[in-house]
Amino acid sequence: MEKVINHAIIGCGRIAQNHFNAAKANNINVECCCDKDIEKAKAFAEKNKILRYEKDYTKLIDDEHIDSISICTDHLSHTMIAKDFLGKKHIIIEKPLSSNFEMAKDFLNQDDGKKKVTVISQHRFDIPVNFVKNLINSGDLGKITLVNAKLNCYRPDDYYTESYWRGTKIQEGGSTVINQSYHIVDTLVYFFGIPKKVKSFKGNFKYKNKIETEDTCVSILQYEDMLCTFSSTNTSISDWKTNFEIIGTEGDISFTIDFPENILEFNASEAIKEKYKEDIDKINSNFEDNKELAVNYYGLSHNEQYADFKKAILNKQNIKVGLKEAIQTQQLIDLIYNQGDSQC
Ligand SMILES: NC(=O)c1ccc[n+]([C@@H]2O[C@H](COP(=O)([O-])OP(=O)(O)OC[C@H]3O[C@@H](n4cnc5c(N)ncnc54)[C@H](O)[C@@H]3O)[C@@H](O)[C@H]2O)c1
Repeated sequence: MEKVINHAIIGCGRIAQNHFNAAKANNINVECCCDKDIEKAKAFAEKNKILRYEKDYTKLIDDEHIDSISICTDHLSHTMIAKDFLGKKHIIIEKPLSSNFEMAKDFLNQDDGKKKVTVISQHRFDIPVNFVKNLINSGDLGKITLVNAKLNCYRPDDYYTESYWRGTKIQEGGSTVINQSYHIVDTLVYFFGIPKKVKSFKGNFKYKNKIETEDTCVSILQYEDMLCTFSSTNTSISDWKTNFEIIGTEGDISFTIDFPENILEFNASEAIKEKYKEDIDKINSNFEDNKELAVNYYGLSHNEQYADFKKAILNKQNIKVGLKEAIQTQQLIDLIYNQGDSQC
C-alpha cells in the first residue's frame, strides 16, 4: 500500500484553500493547519475538517507524525519559516521564494538536499505552457525574435489596506512584478532563461498614499538574440488578464495563462498548423469545457505540482521546480527591479 503523507499548511489566508484542495486531490492527508492568527487557523480547520490546528508553527518542527509542510504566508517569512524545517520535513513554499533576493540565495545555500523542497510555480504544469515550450524548442516557429508578455489586473483598495504585508517593500518585496506577475516572469524564465540585460520603468500611479511599492512596471529584456517586452499593472479594471505573444521568423503564437488557459492565435505554414492542430484543438476544447467553472484565476495546477511533490518524495526522484529553478525566477525579478529607473 502507498505510504500516506501527513502534511501541515502554515498560513491560512487566501491561497491556503488551493493547497488543501491540491493535497486532497493527491490523497495527501492534511493533518494540521497553522496560523499566527489562531481564529483563522480554527476557521480553516473547521471548514476543511482538519483535526488539528495551531498558532505556533514551531510545534510542528520535531513532530514525527508530520512528513511535509506548505508555507502560505507573506513573502518575507517564507525562507525564515522554511529554514526551521530544513532537513526535517519536505517543504512546499508559495511563490516567491522570498521578498528578498539575498535571503533567497542564502536559503538555497543552506539546503542540504536531505528533504524535497519545491516553490509553487503552478503554470509550469499547465498543458498549454508546456505545449508552447515544446513548440519553441522544436524550431517550428523559426528563430524567436520577439516576445511580448503582460498582465493587467485589478486590486481593490482593501486588498492592501486590510493586509499587514501587501504593499510593503520589506514584507512583499514589491507588488505587481513580484506578486501578481510572478507567473509571467516565471514562464519567461521557463522558456528563455535569464536575459543579458534588463531596462525597467516602474511607477505607483493608483495607490500612491496606500502602498510603498510599484503598481505598474514596463521592462525590456535583451536576450542574446531576441528581445522581450514585459508589462504588468494592478491598476486595470480587468480582474485578471494575461497575454503572451511569441513571434518567430516562421510563425507566431499567442496564449493566456488565465484559468482556463487558452491559445488565442497560431500562425504558421499550413503544414505546421496541421501538425499541431490536434494539440491546439484539445487545449481549446478544454477551455470551452471549463470556462464557466467558478475557479479563481490561480487555476487548478497546484494539483499537478502537489502530484509532482508526492512522486518526488515517494519515489525519491527529482522535483520539477526545485530551489535552483525558483532562484532563477527570483533573479529575473531582481533584475527587473534593480536595473531600471524607478519612482518607488
Ligand atoms: N500561486 C498563486 O497563484 C498564488 C496566489 C495567491 C497568493 N499566492 C502566494 O501565497 C502566499 C500567501 O498569500 P495570501 O494571499 O494567502 O496571504 P494572506 O495574507 O491572505 O495569508 C497569509 C496568512 O499567513 C499567516 N501567517 C503569517 N506569518 C505566519 C507565521 N509565522 N505562522 C503562521 N501563520 C502566519 C497570516 O496570519 C495570514 O493569515 C504569498 O506568498 C502569495 O504570493 C500565490
